[in-house]
Amino acid sequence: MADAEAAASAVEGLSIESAIIYIDEDGGVDSTEHPNSQETPYKTLLFALSVPGATTATFHTRKSKTVVAPAEEPSLEYKPVSGSALKKAKKLHEAAVRKSAKGAASAAQREKDAADRAEKERLKLEAAKAFVLKEDPSLPTARSIKIRTSTANRGARVKVSGWIHRLRVQAHMIFIVLRDGTGYLQCVLEGDLIKTLDALQLIEETAITIHGTIKELPEGKTAPGGHELTADYYTVVGRAPAGDEAIGSIVAPDSEQQLKLDQRHLVIRGDQASGVLKVRAGVLRAFRRSFEELGLLEVTPPCMVQTQVEGGSTLFEFQYYGEKAYLTQSSQLYLETCLPALGDVFCVQESFRAERSVTRRHLSEYTHIEGELAFISFDDLLSHLEEMISRVLEFVLADPLCKDIIKELNPDFKVPERPFMRMRYSDAIKWLNEHDIKTDEGKDHEFGDDIAEAAERKMTDDIGRPIFLTHFPVEIKAFYMKKDDSDPRVTESVDVLMPGVGEIVGGSMRMDNLDELMGGYAREGIDPAPYYWFTDQRKYGSCPHGGYGLGLERFLAWLCNRWTVRECCLYPRYVGRCTP
Ligand code: 4AD
Repeated sequence: MADAEAAASAVEGLSIESAIIYIDEDGGVDSTEHPNSQETPYKTLLFALSVPGATTATFHTRKSKTVVAPAEEPSLEYKPVSGSALKKAKKLHEAAVRKSAKGAASAAQREKDAADRAEKERLKLEAAKAFVLKEDPSLPTARSIKIRTSTANRGARVKVSGWIHRLRVQAHMIFIVLRDGTGYLQCVLEGDLIKTLDALQLIEETAITIHGTIKELPEGKTAPGGHELTADYYTVVGRAPAGDEAIGSIVAPDSEQQLKLDQRHLVIRGDQASGVLKVRAGVLRAFRRSFEELGLLEVTPPCMVQTQVEGGSTLFEFQYYGEKAYLTQSSQLYLETCLPALGDVFCVQESFRAERSVTRRHLSEYTHIEGELAFISFDDLLSHLEEMISRVLEFVLADPLCKDIIKELNPDFKVPERPFMRMRYSDAIKWLNEHDIKTDEGKDHEFGDDIAEAAERKMTDDIGRPIFLTHFPVEIKAFYMKKDDSDPRVTESVDVLMPGVGEIVGGSMRMDNLDELMGGYAREGIDPAPYYWFTDQRKYGSCPHGGYGLGLERFLAWLCNRWTVRECCLYPRYVGRCTP
């Protein structure tokens, strides 16, 4: 404002004296700080046109550094601006004036719009705060249901409690996909229901109870279960945070793995993670049912032990009231003691392995499904294993929920054809060499080599179907495994290998001869003293017997097509992670 006034008085002054505005393209300054004169000219014609009073002025210009001729001094004389130059400059000036007027108007408009919006929000919030939603007492009492029973409860007034899984807000409606663990239910809120403060603050993961009626959806519309709950009342039970703390701001499907594991307590609320955990429950049910049908009894062996099963290098050691003890690597030895007491037995128990290497199929704690059977041959053991795996798959896929989740997670899954392929270890060595698959050291495989994970997986993936790999050499297997009568170099042992995952089962026939078992301890440098109860099985009515252990997380990684076993348990434990 002060500048404009100064410019005006400068021009007014000029208009009295000469009505000429001076411009020096080289030496002038576009400022109204000093009155315009020959000594203090402006720099540009465009600026000169913008000062008040310019419309009635004439313009004289000069170029102080212009050299007219090589020998002459620079011309310092002011000359009137040519008509065409003035016309051009006026056009530019008018355009600039128009643009700035428009800019000022739209900025003012934007400010006004924002203020209007804020006011509207404030009024809406005030109105929402004042609005109290009441349940209509004339409606029938709502029956409390779980989402899985929605179809059976269509038409009746119900109330469903759960968490907001997804939320879509439209002008006059709020669509909620509610989750209660037993399923998903689309709920529609409209009318008075969306006028409350609670409605304005709804966000994913809010715990809520919604009352209303479930109706089948008309043809062409889709929602989980083919129906939708039209809400007539609701109460917010527990809020969830918005902004930086909103679940979507903390983890997303493409978040980095470690972050997802740190936030696993939130990740398991998602479709995929909860889907795998639901299939896990289905698989456990199917195993228990299959064991039951095949006549095995469930037992619960201890986790705190003083004996090793699968080698000292992976033992988790701890102090047990001043004595050395371990977390169990396998319940096998205890299952063997149950045979004469309870007959064939199984257990579903955590096993612990202090695995040093971080791989996608090794956990420090995993769920071990182990079975032990008496009076069987090695061939019986293999047939039983094939039967178990096939039954479990049949039951899991007959469960509509598991079937749908597996279809979603692993659309190409096919139940393996029976009989499963059987391959001796010695043939696997030949196969690996024929297919130029080397050891980790880059050498050809030799009989006696422990087939490394990479080679084993390559072979399994190439063959593309489950393999019962049998008859491993004595030296690379545990102390308790029975030798093959026809070839004492090898054991009656089996690893079940699955494409994409590798070994999911390890099993064998057990040494049932006392002397042989003592030899096994000696070979592995194990002190037999703490094993007295296990050794006794060979004294008190020994019998041929065998069994196996299946890693539940590996089975799930295969069935649900997960990259790592870490996605197949609730809270994975592996080197460097013991949280959450
Ligand atoms: O082959 P393993 O070591 O066999 C035993 O423990 C036997 N004593 C079982 C028995 O005969 N009762 O382990 C059996 C299975 C493996 O095939 C694998 O699926 C799983 O247990 N497993 C692991 N899973 C996840 N993380 C680990 N660190 C695992 N170690 C073994």
